[in-house]
Amino acid sequence: MSDMKLRYLPYYLLPFLLAACSSGEPPTQFRPDASIQEVMASVVDPAADAVWEAVSSETTAQGIVEHQPRTDAEWLAVRHHAVTLAEAANLLLIKGRVVSHTNQLEDAHVPGILSAADVQKKIDADRKLFAARAQELQAAAREAVAAIDAKHPQRLLAAGEKIDAACERCHITYWYPNAEQPKWPAPLTAAVKP
Ligand code: HEC
Repeated sequence: MSDMKLRYLPYYLLPFLLAACSSGEPPTQFRPDASIQEVMASVVDPAADAVWEAVSSETTAQGIVEHQPRTDAEWLAVRHHAVTLAEAANLLLIKGRVVSHTNQLEDAHVPGILSAADVQKKIDADRKLFAARAQELQAAAREAVAAIDAKHPQRLLAAGEKIDAACERCHITYWYPNAEQPKWPAPLTAAVKP
């Protein structure tokens, strides 16, 4: 019964379907919504923090507590963040994503920090360099994924340091090329036995 109905449906819907397909942007086109700043704050930074914190040490009243993933669920949780970070590198490369919607940069008061317009100009002047920086972040995040799949805390720690270096290298190029080196992100101080 329902088969028969389906067979006759397209016959009168066809003109409408064709009209719908021929109007507007092709659905395959990216439509960046967030600024690079927002992608950093909403996707890149939280994912990186989770990867860094997965293998880390913390000073508490009871002494130094060393963190590392132990259960399958904990390894899977950090894997999700490492994969997010690897893919976030692609988000940065989407054409038309602006540096800032507000033109306000974090730490804008710090001497040597570029304005949002200057960061934008620098990125647009050499998209290949920006892509290379983003892909360094992706490569480091892939190393984190591999370390996680091997359930190897030391390798995850080493990948975390590479991630840190990739953040820093891009920020030094585009964000604070003339500034004193800010102490950000916090240096890793983990000492974890394999
Ligand atoms: C390919 C270049 C690139 C890489 C790699 C990169 N960033 Fe950024 N990041 C930027 C640019 C450009 C800005 C703009 C400066 C600003 O918005 O203050 C920025 C800004 C930020 C900000 C400030 C956002 C705000 O609200 O102003 C944070 C936080 C940040 N990045 C975190 C990170 C972390 C953590 C990493 C590494 C895991 C990272 N970024 C890697 C390019 C990059």
